[in-house]
Amino acid sequence: MEVVIVQDAKAGGELVAQGIADLLRRRPDALLGVATGSTPLPVYRALAARVRAGTADVSRARIAQLDEYVGLPAGHPESYRSVVMRTVLKPLGLSPESFIGPDGSAEDVRAACEAYETALTAAGGVDLQLLGIGTDGHIGFNEPCSSLASRTRIKTLTEQTRADNARFFDGDIEQVPQHVITQGIGTILEARHLVLLATGEGKAEAVAATAEGPVAAVCPASALQLHPHATVVVDEAAASKLKLAGYFRHAYAHKPAWQDL
Ligand code: PGA
Repeated sequence: MEVVIVQDAKAGGELVAQGIADLLRRRPDALLGVATGSTPLPVYRALAARVRAGTADVSRARIAQLDEYVGLPAGHPESYRSVVMRTVLKPLGLSPESFIGPDGSAEDVRAACEAYETALTAAGGVDLQLLGIGTDGHIGFNEPCSSLASRTRIKTLTEQTRADNARFFDGDIEQVPQHVITQGIGTILEARHLVLLATGEGKAEAVAATAEGPVAAVCPASALQLHPHATVVVDEAAASKLKLAGYFRHAYAHKPAWQDL
């Protein structure tokens, strides 16, 4: 896994946006797996700025969703489908036809999970999957002790995740759904390039466990160690508990020019 330490969240956003722009130059119809939450927003802003400046062409890009709340009515502003429409598709000028995601309002949740796996395969698989990380080490909504081989399925959120996400629901944890659909860890690992972005001191422990801890289901993000092309982009605060920070800086400073991101 490559760990890239950047100054701050804005610099992380710029770096990842440039990586996406470069990918789209090589593969204009790339399937981009996007994440929700606060962390990736600087990426989407930086990418939209490149589109406006004419330095990135996203017109043929396709967008795939990572996870979704179960039980919010279709069109709820905090459903992740709505969030992706608002924060990714709209600013990038993409139509809903370029989007695939699981149906969190489906009556048959299991069928919705299977349908999403099928849709991902039919779309040719994810080229670049952007990931955040929970303070508990989750990726997508794969909470601690999720199977490292898991596929898209229903999960129950931890109270920690519901508390972390209450800020999107008027600060009221009771409004945060208990259940979610998430791509499994096995599903996520099939993306051709994984890019995990983490910013802020609150993520420092989870980042250290991800990059330097054992591969263990108790820290789902540690599964990235099993992927042949995983990039972890962290700001100084999120890097503050990395023992190998000096080596990571050295390796990035001497990165071969032909390597991406
Ligand atoms: P955040 O969420 O970016 O809002 O911190 C990350 C996550 O829960 O995966």
